[in-house]
Amino acid sequence: MKDVDLFLENLHYFDKTFKLIINQHSNQRKVEYIQLSDLINNYSSFITNRDNEKHWNHIKQSIEIITLIENLRNNSSICIQIIEKYRALVLGLENEEITDYFRNIEDCIEKEFGDFQINSQSKVLMVGSGAFPLTLLMVAERTGADVFGIDIDDEAIRLGRHVVNKLGRHLSIQIEKKTVEELTVIKQISHIIFSSTVSNKYDILEQLYDLTNEDVLIAMRYGNGVKSLFNYPMQKVDETKWHIVEEIIHPQSVFDVILYQKVP
Ligand SMILES: C[S@@+](CC[C@H](N)C(=O)[O-])C[C@H]1O[C@@H](n2cnc3c(N)ncnc32)[C@H](O)[C@@H]1O
Repeated sequence: MKDVDLFLENLHYFDKTFKLIINQHSNQRKVEYIQLSDLINNYSSFITNRDNEKHWNHIKQSIEIITLIENLRNNSSICIQIIEKYRALVLGLENEEITDYFRNIEDCIEKEFGDFQINSQSKVLMVGSGAFPLTLLMVAERTGADVFGIDIDDEAIRLGRHVVNKLGRHLSIQIEKKTVEELTVIKQISHIIFSSTVSNKYDILEQLYDLTNEDVLIAMRYGNGVKSLFNYPMQKVDETKWHIVEEIIHPQSVFDVILYQKVP
């Protein structure tokens, strides 16, 4: 079998397995979390394997393949939400396991803003903070900044607050089910991080232009090429409004980061 055919076969396997897990979860049947964790770890390794970038460039973009890619992106993102919820629920239990996926994310958070460091005077907002708000906790702990998280999912809000209560009571972290327009603190925000799995992140970026202060710095997590199997890719922005100040590529990681600022 040719390498590219094997690559496609793997994509079909991941597609089938993600769908199976989502089905089990939505039918309230027990999801095997060890199996889900292994699946996400394998998928992360698959995405960051450099050989797969080559195979990606050789696949023919038929309608069937484009649909497969979109399904993989959407369904892997739902599986991340499921595992984040699981991790929040088992927090503090003895058998709590940290998947490689989360370790991978931790490495990225360290370098999120490149040379534009956050300090204790900063106010940081994360769009799509999730049920296990690792980014909020790490940023608040390491910098002393005031940190805000927003999410559209009630359960992610509830569990996110539960995790912060358990691990970050001493930190300045607030989680709200609000849009960027509804956040009263939005004008004072200095740094904004977008979760890579927020599908409409570029629409929200457009809204932010009028809502935020002049110096706001945006860290947009994204994945192009083979990484778009796990993340929403980078899009063109209105160049009269936003400009790219830095691109932070993480070869070992499932997503990359691009920094935007307002055009002066
Ligand atoms: C599971 S977390 C994943 C975090 C991951 N570390 C990343 O960077 O993608 C993504 C969260 O984004 C939330 N989300 C999706 N669309 C959103 C939106 N338009 N606004 C706010 N949160 C959103 C989801 O509910 C989910 O909890």
